[in-house]
Amino acid sequence: MTTRILTGITTTGTPHLGNYAGAIRPAIVASRQSDADSFYFLADYHALIKCDDPLRIQRSRLEIAATWLAAGLDVERVTFYRQSDIPEIPELTWLLTCVAGKGLLNRAHAYKASVDKNVEAGEDPDAGITMGLFSYPVLMAADILMFNAHQVPVGRDQIQHVEMARDIGQRFNHLFGNGKEFFVMPEALIEESVATLPGLDGRKMSKSYDNTIPLFSGAKEMKDAISRIVTDSRLPGEAKDPDNSHLFTLYQAFASKARSEQLRADLLQGLGWGDAKQRLFQLLDGELGEARERYHRLIERPTDLEDILQTGAQKARRIATPFLGELREAVGLRSLRTIAQAVTATKKKASKAARFVSFREDDGSFRFRLLAADGEQLLLSRNFADGKAAGAVTRQLQQGGELDIRTQGESFSVWLEDVCVADSPAFADTAARDAAVQSLKLALTPQQD
Ligand code: TRP
Repeated sequence: MTTRILTGITTTGTPHLGNYAGAIRPAIVASRQSDADSFYFLADYHALIKCDDPLRIQRSRLEIAATWLAAGLDVERVTFYRQSDIPEIPELTWLLTCVAGKGLLNRAHAYKASVDKNVEAGEDPDAGITMGLFSYPVLMAADILMFNAHQVPVGRDQIQHVEMARDIGQRFNHLFGNGKEFFVMPEALIEESVATLPGLDGRKMSKSYDNTIPLFSGAKEMKDAISRIVTDSRLPGEAKDPDNSHLFTLYQAFASKARSEQLRADLLQGLGWGDAKQRLFQLLDGELGEARERYHRLIERPTDLEDILQTGAQKARRIATPFLGELREAVGLRSLRTIAQAVTATKKKASKAARFVSFREDDGSFRFRLLAADGEQLLLSRNFADGKAAGAVTRQLQQGGELDIRTQGESFSVWLEDVCVADSPAFADTAARDAAVQSLKLALTPQQD
């Protein structure tokens, strides 16, 4: 069986070396496994939540698409698309919004953090918080559930969102599945082995710390950033401690074992930091130089990129469109044409197949059951002293007319002249109960044709 892997990349920035080592490179490696069916997409609707600068959104979509392709993503193998090219995603988001508990979303870390910040500042708790931020996890659930992903590679901060996708998907399955599991339950995939690269100052490489090494912008930019890596003040000739040097950690993330060992030995021998930086630059330039060229060629051909993304969207929609059709059907957004057909079909079926089955209890009393067309028991009668009394009741029921049906909890009973003559079994919930009441009415409607 193939494993469906899906992840989204929010399009607000330009990918840096940390994104490459932590997300892009491992995702591309994973997509090459023979049992993997990968879905990678630009989460540009998510980007709108964080960013109201259209130029930045536009630029970032271009740069991120080019980065993934330049880094070696094979669009023949994987499904690579833009979230906003799949209209089924916002549509599913709404279906899910209608089953997602507000209380569940109140607990989302990102929303809670914003509320906490407001409260601390003495502001209104919801000051500046958009519905986009609040509903962020529902949109993400739609991303994941739309393609029934088994595994979702994400950073730790996103685990909760994947769990929410499970919750929301499960709720939908339960409410509308009728025993069918529309949605697969996704798992967050946290790659423990994947490098979290240190940035220039040794803290995690992140745009918010302004300590990143650019990935594809240019050799000079990369060299400049490397020259700003913070080291200790040991001079050339003095022994360095590789295990306490994030320069060495960065080197290791890209070098072969042999090359890493060589640098380690040289640092212990007193290699100067300047030389070590030069080696890091040469290593990265060697590893990434060709991809950088590809990146710049792609950036210069936005129309080609657009075509690639459109092809990806078509591929994704071949799954999304029919699936959303099923989901709309499940919640009741159905064509009236199909309802007309269904009514006739059910009527015919019900009149043909709904049947009374009489039997005798051990104590000699007479009872009957009314079974629907599909064999489901709709009614079990009370006990009658003789077969005649039981027969009279079934005939009276078959004559049609207003039925006195009284519901209680998940069941209902049928009354004739204020005497209860039969009871339904207990159904799963009141919706199932009401459906059974409908089948009962249909089964007992005399047919004209
Ligand atoms: N929220 C994710 C992030 O910021 C991006 C994302 C959007 C995503 N939709 C997704 C990740 C679906 C995985 C699956 O990193």
